[in-house]
Amino acid sequence: MEGVTPPPSPPLIEIEELALGYEHDGAHVAVLERLDLSIARGEFIAILGASGVGKSTLLRVLIGLAAPSAGVLRFDSRSDCAMALVFQDARLLPWRRVEANVALGLEKTKLSKEQRRVRAVEALRGVGLEGFGERFPHQLSGGQRQRVALARALAVRPDVLLMDEPFSALDTPTRQRLQDDLLMLWRETGKTILFVTHDIDEAVYLADRVIALGGKPGEVRASVTIDVARPRRRGDTRLRDIASLVESKLRSD
Ligand SMILES: Nc1ncnc2c1ncn2[C@@H]1O[C@H](COP(=O)(O)OP(=O)(O)OP(=O)(O)O)[C@@H](O)[C@H]1O
Ligand SMILES: [Mg+2]
Repeated sequence: MEGVTPPPSPPLIEIEELALGYEHDGAHVAVLERLDLSIARGEFIAILGASGVGKSTLLRVLIGLAAPSAGVLRFDSRSDCAMALVFQDARLLPWRRVEANVALGLEKTKLSKEQRRVRAVEALRGVGLEGFGERFPHQLSGGQRQRVALARALAVRPDVLLMDEPFSALDTPTRQRLQDDLLMLWRETGKTILFVTHDIDEAVYLADRVIALGGKPGEVRASVTIDVARPRRRGDTRLRDIASLVESKLRSD
């Protein structure tokens, strides 16, 4: 019908006035306070902020490993909003072969052994590690181990990928290759990604939007949209300008 536009789809995740603290020597220490963030389906968000501001804590809240003390966390009801978390270090089990590591998150599911194997093989292919399933973690490079960690996350077919400084331990060429592979994967799968990093250039190269956390307790200080078409060029002056802007927001903290 003319003149009738469908209602805008609701955000995939909506965080309102989120607060969280820890008990320390009987005292309550606030880590996050009044944190508001709305995440659209398919969005690639980078999260920056000083060490200790609560970035990892925020990811832990989203995946259900930490409980907020106040606030609302709303997930789009049309999606089961499955999530997976990737850490800075790959955290693979050294005694398990790569394929068994990737299938780890599937063991509590109803999938048969064969189905789990097929999923693991498929996830390994997705990160460019076809044929590495029989190796042990110590037979891989750091970058390959991080790819396995990503495959393990992808194997559960999450809607949302939470990534906590996943590439920060890698050398520059490896990191850049993984960034580009992640962008390709994101484009092909349409997943929603929350990517924590300390590297402003990495954030502006990858993301649709950069969230700068600041303060003590931490809150959202700035949300900067990166309106630069992909594929992007590293060192693009527009990206450099945005990086300077983000840096000033983080510095003013
Ligand atoms: N389990 C815990 N018990 C008590 N305090 C904690 C716990 N986990 C984190 N904290 C504290 O909460 C604050 C936020 O920690 P968090 O790990 O979220 O920071 P971050 O922004 O990820 O820092 P980094 O950049 O160093 O990884 C810190 O002050 C930390 O000491
Ligand atoms: Mg952290």
